[in-house]
Amino acid sequence: MPLSDIPQGSMRPVTIGGREIVICHTREGVYALDNICTHAHARMCEGRLRATRLVCPLHGASFDIRDGKVLGPPAILPLPIFQVRIVDGTIEVAV
Ligand code: FES
Repeated sequence: MPLSDIPQGSMRPVTIGGREIVICHTREGVYALDNICTHAHARMCEGRLRATRLVCPLHGASFDIRDGKVLGPPAILPLPIFQVRIVDGTIEVAV
């Protein structure tokens, strides 16, 4: 996906290899995480992105998009993250 498709401060869901992933573009960089919350079944891309904090739309758990760590309950398990690189303006995700 072209980096220009995701303005800074926004996120976009993609399906890669049958897996739902959310790509987040922040001032800190571009990050890719599992799009399904580890607490219950909610799509993280429908939540809110606040700097490097991603907030689940269902019960409000929050995660650090840089390492997937839980920042706020009720989730306990981190969100899986995926390596990202930008090549000639294109976002590449290693799944
Ligand atoms: S489903 Fe995400 S916090 Fe409950």
